[in-house]
Amino acid sequence: MNYTEQTINTDVVTNLENHLPQLGIEKVEDEILKGLKENPKYISPKFFYDPRGSELFEEITELDEYYPTRTEKSIIQTIGQKLDLDFSNMSIIELGSGDASKIRLLISQIPENDLAGIKYYPIDISQSAIEKSSEILAEEFPSIVINGIVADYIHQKSWVPESGNRLFCFFGSTIGNMNISEIEEFLKLIGSEMESGDCLLLGMDMVKDIEVLEKAYNDSKYITAKFNLNILNVVNNLVGTNFNSADFEHLAFYDREKERIEMHLKAKNDMIITSNSGKDGIYIKTGETIHTENSHKFSEESISKFGSWAGLNVEKILTDDNHWFSLVHYRK
Ligand code: AVI
Repeated sequence: MNYTEQTINTDVVTNLENHLPQLGIEKVEDEILKGLKENPKYISPKFFYDPRGSELFEEITELDEYYPTRTEKSIIQTIGQKLDLDFSNMSIIELGSGDASKIRLLISQIPENDLAGIKYYPIDISQSAIEKSSEILAEEFPSIVINGIVADYIHQKSWVPESGNRLFCFFGSTIGNMNISEIEEFLKLIGSEMESGDCLLLGMDMVKDIEVLEKAYNDSKYITAKFNLNILNVVNNLVGTNFNSADFEHLAFYDREKERIEMHLKAKNDMIITSNSGKDGIYIKTGETIHTENSHKFSEESISKFGSWAGLNVEKILTDDNHWFSLVHYRK
């Protein structure tokens, strides 16, 4: 992943805006080094997703133990029959669009007559993900207009496209990877951007049996462990640190009180980490951890609280038979 020098392939997506250069490489470097100097140390989960990290995440979504993706997809497949959505001239804005496999399921339920009026805005931090997925979508649905936006949609406010009949989609329970104050700020931002009649589809992973949760983040093929450890390679590439992922072990557990899975990397030995900035080294002791991700799990109460933060009404909650995952339809 290179935050400043992604090339734009205009053959694939006719329109593509890249907002990442506005973030600045210095900011990224400061952000990472600040987290590594804190006690306890942390790295933001947004740094998981270089090409290798995105590949490993795709593998996670196919694991037997990782239920969220297949559960949410099975729910999305029922949207056409269960939700009252007006698809005419709709702009679909998908935050964290990734491989676009979920929006594909939604678009394939749009009546033929409405397809030509659909504008799709995939927003993602990875330009290659937008390009690849747009190519596949454009082939399958040649009449829709695709406007890709490369941005860090949590920290950048410049991505929200024009008004109209807008459907914002934030699938995957990615909202659970933010902390609670970030969720509040983010929902307030989306709510203030939305106009009367606009809708939001929000994927939320629900609180459930601890065994199911912990297995989902400690899979038997160690793909989640590889995904977690890969963040150190991403950081090495971004700020020139000399982490060796073999010096760490993957740790994931559920905190009942905070209602979240926490992922950490635990040092197997003492080490001194240096970086491009050439200033002081970072000392890490055996057993010390770097916090890499929180994955919050939600309840009915969270669904209404989020609506009130964003100033949105809950229209409908779609869920699976086990009530493991919810897709919430909010309307302004
Ligand atoms: C992207 N996000 C919703 C995933 C999750 O479940 O929190 C990321 C992930 N981390 C480990 N496994 C999957």
